[in-house]
Amino acid sequence: MTGDADGGPGAVAGDRALLRAGERVLLIDAKARRYLITLRPGTEFHTHVGIVAHDDLIGAPEGGTVLGSTGRRFVVLRPTLADVVLKMPRGAQVIYPKDLGAILFEADIGPGMRVLEAGVGSGALSMTLVRAGADVVGYELRPDFAQRARSNVVAELGEAASWRVELRDVYEGIDERQLDRVVLDLPEPWRVLPHAALAMRPGGILCAYLPTINQTAQLRSALGAGPFGMARTIEVLQRSWHIEDRSVRPDHRMVGHTGFITTARLLVPEGGPDAAPGTGGT
Ligand SMILES: C[S@@+](CC[C@H](N)C(=O)[O-])C[C@H]1O[C@@H](n2cnc3c(N)ncnc32)[C@H](O)[C@@H]1O
Repeated sequence: MTGDADGGPGAVAGDRALLRAGERVLLIDAKARRYLITLRPGTEFHTHVGIVAHDDLIGAPEGGTVLGSTGRRFVVLRPTLADVVLKMPRGAQVIYPKDLGAILFEADIGPGMRVLEAGVGSGALSMTLVRAGADVVGYELRPDFAQRARSNVVAELGEAASWRVELRDVYEGIDERQLDRVVLDLPEPWRVLPHAALAMRPGGILCAYLPTINQTAQLRSALGAGPFGMARTIEVLQRSWHIEDRSVRPDHRMVGHTGFITTARLLVPEGGPDAAPGTGGT
């Protein structure tokens, strides 16, 4: 493998510079195809463009290249969270990285925040919330999805991640109290509002991700009945560009539609917590 382990432009200080057994790495071939592998001593990675020995990667610096058995080179990098989300095993459909990034800001997720997430699905949103420093409890209906999410989160963030998943139907209630945030990716988030209003602290943010505008309109209508207010809905459109020599233009293909992100804040009704809920929404 080529690269500079001891210094030079690409070197990273300390142990992080070198790839270790058990780590996940991304191999990228000349056609920009990406392969996510976990480094295991004595193992080989087989692809139709050649075989790569894991031992050639273990102890080598990140950012270099490795030669496959057919003479083709692969760039070797640790995956970003976006790479992991798109490549990891999934049961349920994951939220796309462009929306995961937006959710972090729309829901204002930060270190130490107490977050209830439902449904957990494949764990893409879970790992995004945990990576941002939140303390996350996830509710998920399906045992197979909960198990998949658990293995995805542990593979990315380790056993010590401040995250746990419970096999629970969030439509039936939320046990936690004084939550800072409730983040929902399931079909009928309006059914969670009464439970969220009890489980959250005033000023907390509820965030729901929905694929259709019909669902979003129903949620907004339910939010308008209070005690939530300051409701807001956005959609994130992302267009990547092809930039090569004199060919500079948007890529031919883009992700046309993913989902709508709606947020609202839990307000204290005028007259105090026991007063009738007011209307909210902007
Ligand atoms: C689209 S997936 C979530 C994907 C997830 N956000 C991710 O990024 O990997 C929706 C999940 O909600 C779960 N779900 C649906 N209704 C639920 C409920 N009432 N309580 C808990 N989980 C629920 C489903 O089983 C499914 O796993």
